[in-house]
Amino acid sequence: MTHEAQPLEEGERVLLIDGRGRRYLIELKAGAEFHSHVGIVGHDELIGGDEGVTLRASGGGRFLAFRPTLADYILKMKRGAQVVYPKDIGLILVYADIFPGATVLEAGSGSAALTLGLARAVGESGRIISYELREDHHAQAVRNLRTWYSSSDAGPQNVDLRVGDVFEESQPGPVDRIVLDLPEPWRAVGPATDALRSGGILCSYLPTIPQVQQTVAALRKSGFVLVQTLEGLVRTWNIEGASVRPDHRMVAHTGFIITARKPTTYRDTKVSEAARVGLSPDRGGDDGL
Ligand SMILES: C[S@@+](CC[C@H](N)C(=O)[O-])C[C@H]1O[C@@H](n2cnc3c(N)ncnc32)[C@H](O)[C@@H]1O
Repeated sequence: MTHEAQPLEEGERVLLIDGRGRRYLIELKAGAEFHSHVGIVGHDELIGGDEGVTLRASGGGRFLAFRPTLADYILKMKRGAQVVYPKDIGLILVYADIFPGATVLEAGSGSAALTLGLARAVGESGRIISYELREDHHAQAVRNLRTWYSSSDAGPQNVDLRVGDVFEESQPGPVDRIVLDLPEPWRAVGPATDALRSGGILCSYLPTIPQVQQTVAALRKSGFVLVQTLEGLVRTWNIEGASVRPDHRMVAHTGFIITARKPTTYRDTKVSEAARVGLSPDRGGDDGL
């Protein structure tokens, strides 16, 4: 299926990319101007036209103009809390198996980078319920969602951003997936995961290995199975004539992703630890990443 190009409209975000690859995210306003080191570009040159055009600034420099991808927007949007990077959002969506129509319990919302990825993956028939402890982070999450969806309300209909402590709020249930990006997810394994349906997946995103160890131990103790920990390293390359090599810089470390599945035997004390271990081939990549 192909789509007709939609003309750019006032109020939309556009990414301007200069000759050196620097990126600027602007909101189109009739009569407004974008000022840069290589001159001025009038927003009116973009409004009503197609994305993908090359603009010449008053000082002679050139800009490519595109609608931002979700990854572009996440890297440019305002942050209250540290965001999950696009490379990790991609992994979380696939390994936590976020599917169209899924109901997902998330915490904490932070700047809503991960929420945006989850909302797109579950689609209009799905639902994200996302808790955030801090009022200021919640407010930034609402703004970021609203901006991406260019709407004056709190964002898309499939996202329910709530202020609250995910460990203390009564949880909706049953949910298909739980996605946690907060410092002490092991505290959620008991109370919050009661909301997870059998067969559901809990996913936790953590920056340090001591946190990973504590979370994995809590998951195993509670009877979760197929506990898996991974990280994703993305290295971009420079391909210019004879210069074919990895870029000098990369984001070396962001976080670890843990996934685990809830069996029907969850918290069933009759199931021995040994039986659980037998169900849990989490020895690190031996089951085909
Ligand atoms: C690293 S940030 C999350 C970033 C977010 N995933 C994103 O991509 O923008 C962690 C957030 O968890 C929140 N948080 C910590 N403990 C929490 C709890 N018990 N319940 C809800 N939110 C919590 C913090 O206030 C913080 O905003």
